[in-house]
Amino acid sequence: MTNDSKSNGGAKNEATKSLGASNRGTDKPVYDPNARAAIEVEHIVKKYGEFTAVDDVSFSVKEGEIFGLLGPNGAGKSTLIRMMTTLIPITSGKARIAGHDVAKEPNAARRMIGVIPQALTSDLDLTVEENLNIYAKLYDVPAKEREKSITELLGLVDLAKWRDAQTKTLSGGMRRRLEIARGLVHHPRIFFLDEPTTGLDPVSRVAVWEMLGNIKEHRKLTILITTHYMDEADRLCDRIAIVDHGKLVALDEPMALKASVPGSNVIEAQFENSPDDWEQRLHDLEAVTSVQHEGAGMYRVLTSNGSRTTTQLVELAVQSGVSVKSLSVQNTTLDDVFVHYTGRQLRDELQKAYGFVMPQRPGLQP
Ligand SMILES: Nc1ncnc2c1ncn2[C@@H]1O[C@H](COP(=O)(O)OP(=O)(O)OP(=O)(O)O)[C@@H](O)[C@H]1O
Ligand SMILES: [Mg+2]
Repeated sequence: MTNDSKSNGGAKNEATKSLGASNRGTDKPVYDPNARAAIEVEHIVKKYGEFTAVDDVSFSVKEGEIFGLLGPNGAGKSTLIRMMTTLIPITSGKARIAGHDVAKEPNAARRMIGVIPQALTSDLDLTVEENLNIYAKLYDVPAKEREKSITELLGLVDLAKWRDAQTKTLSGGMRRRLEIARGLVHHPRIFFLDEPTTGLDPVSRVAVWEMLGNIKEHRKLTILITTHYMDEADRLCDRIAIVDHGKLVALDEPMALKASVPGSNVIEAQFENSPDDWEQRLHDLEAVTSVQHEGAGMYRVLTSNGSRTTTQLVELAVQSGVSVKSLSVQNTTLDDVFVHYTGRQLRDELQKAYGFVMPQRPGLQP
């Protein structure tokens, strides 16, 4: 663990307090903190034998909010979603969906929700429309409304032209969009999406998020989403919960989370010929709150005074005969928030776990 453990504990408690809505100065709609709760989770626990996958997690999501669950592989995000959506039993604690206790009134809770699971699940041998129709029938959407809902949704996810196409001919991003449409055919009020953009290329990722924004404007929806992409979560979520080893370690609006990390700037610099104690020497510079060595001579230095630390850092490099290959100063990001609360880089966690890319379109393979 290379981040500053001195500053870790106190701020954690600060960040787990909700600060309510603030003007973020972005074009995101600000959710109403006084709205009713759409999802309430109280001291929820999931055990598999002796192993605790979700450990005493509590939070509440307001109607109309986009709520992000962030965490490394195995943190318990999917397990949380499965419990909230009635797919697996809760070991202890409670989850309520629009006021319905999922353990006592699972059917009432199910009627309120749409779920996009982590794995792609649309039937490849059916057409786009057939995939949607099956779900609409499954959810007892009356025939008249079915046609209207499917047409509207295909427009919203930009697949109208692909209505009669075989699903296997769609790209990964298009299949994700189809699944988003499928999860909405029965007009749910609360939408759960488990990593809808993992494995997609950057362009498809942006398209999926744009679709979600589009849909939210047309339908009154509360969204709970898990993602590994900090930039997405930062831009799109009203509030973010960071989960690690089954525990909730921080929960707040993105701005407040970033403000809870000591240091307001990040200096990213790459050095050549740096001595063994370079990390410590960077740490000793004025205003530095933490230093992470990212390998290949690359360091990420958090500071509360970007310009002063930068000047000192360059002077130190010159005095020590170390060359600076690159240097940039930015504001803190959610990546820094993640490192601060978990002591690890999400990037590293993902590299360990995700050696895969989205499968090729089978229809296009030779
Ligand atoms: N059916 C099961 N039996 C035993 N352990 C399980 C089961 N399902 C999940 N786990 C364990 O619970 C932990 C949480 O898993 P979960 O799938 O919720 O993580 P996650 O945060 O969704 O991770 P990822 O980012 O990889 O999707 C993991 O350690 C996983 O191995
Ligand atoms: Mg998961």
